[in-house]
Amino acid sequence: MRVGLLELNSNENSLGMSDAARKAILESLDIGFRYPDDQRAALITKVAKINGVTESQISLGSGSSENIRTVVQMLQNKALRAGKKFQVIVPHPTFAYAELYATSIDVPVVKVPLVSDSYSFDLQGMQKAADDFNGISLFYLCNPNNPTATIAATDMLKEWVGTAPDHHYFLLDEAYSEYVTDSSFESGIAWIREQRSENIVVVRTFSKLCALAGMRVGYAVASPQMIAKLEAFISVDNTNLAGAVAALATLDDEAFLALSLRTANESRQLVEQTLDELGLRYLPSQASFIFHEIKGDVQTYINRMREHGIAVGREFAPITGFNRLTLGRPDEMTVFVKVLKSFREKGWV
Ligand SMILES: Cc1ncc(COP(=O)(O)O)c(C=O)c1O
Repeated sequence: MRVGLLELNSNENSLGMSDAARKAILESLDIGFRYPDDQRAALITKVAKINGVTESQISLGSGSSENIRTVVQMLQNKALRAGKKFQVIVPHPTFAYAELYATSIDVPVVKVPLVSDSYSFDLQGMQKAADDFNGISLFYLCNPNNPTATIAATDMLKEWVGTAPDHHYFLLDEAYSEYVTDSSFESGIAWIREQRSENIVVVRTFSKLCALAGMRVGYAVASPQMIAKLEAFISVDNTNLAGAVAALATLDDEAFLALSLRTANESRQLVEQTLDELGLRYLPSQASFIFHEIKGDVQTYINRMREHGIAVGREFAPITGFNRLTLGRPDEMTVFVKVLKSFREKGWV
C-alpha cells in the first residue's frame, strides 16, 4: 500500500474489512498461541453448508492461490507416478498463477488466445491443445475471467466439462463469482454437487467481496476423493487463526456483504456511464474490475494517471489498447472519473 496513492490496480476491495471481521480478529488475539484447528473446522463446516456440499469436499487455502498451486502439484505428481506427461492449458490473457506455479515445477503451459472481438475462451482451441497431447491436461478457466471481467457461456462450458475424458481436468477459478449479474451464469460447484465429473475443482476466495485479501483465506470445492488428494499438497494449518475468524464473521455479516456488492455495482455504473460519455469501449463487467479501451498508448496513460495519484492497473498482452481498472469505492471512482475526464479535455484518452 502506498500512502496517498489511489490504488485501482490490484483488484482489492477498498471498502475495507467488515467491523465484525475486525472485532473477531482482535478477540482472537487472546488465543493466538493456540493452533487454529477449531476455527478452521468451523470455517470448513460453514463453507460446506453455504455451497451445499459435505465438509470432505472443502480444502482451505492460504488464499485461493494456494488451492491453485495444490491442483497443479497434485496432477504433476499423479502424472509422474503413472509415467505420464502433464500440461496446463490456459486462455490468454488470464490470471497468471496457474501458469506461474506450473512453470516453477517445469510443467509446460499452453496459452490459447481468447477469441478476437468477443474476448471469450476459445474452447475448441483449448480442446485441440489437449487432444494433441499424449498425457494429462489441466484446463485453468477463470470465470469471470481476469482481466476481461467476462463470463464463459454456461451451456458450452457445462457440456464440455461434463463430457471430458478421465485424463482431462478442470480448475474453475471463481474468485469473482459473487459479483456476477448475468443470470445465465452457473457455478461449477453445482456440477460438483450433480457429480457431472470427478475432474472438476472450483476455487473461491475471501479476498474480493469479503475484503479480506491480506488475511489470506480461500478454498477449493471438489469431490471428497479429489479433496483428499489435494490436501496432501496443502501446507498444514494453512488458514491462520485471524483469517479463519475474520472469514467466519464476514460470512455471518449479511449487511456487509450486501454493502460490498452494492458499492461495487455503484462504482461500475459510475465508470460505465463515464466510459459511455467518452466513447471508450469496455467489456461487460461481471466482476469487481472493468476492462476498458484507452485511445492512445496505454503505458503513457498509466504513467499519467500515476502522476495524478492513481494506480490504474495495466494492459494484458496480447490485447492492446485496453486497461484493467479495479472498481474501488464510489468516492474513489468519482476521483478517477474526474481525472479521466480531464485527460479527455487534454486529448490524452
Ligand atoms: C482470478 C483470481 N484468482 C485468484 C486470485 C488470488 O486470490 P487469493 O487472494 O485468494 O489468493 C486472484 C487475485 O487477484 C484472482 O484475480
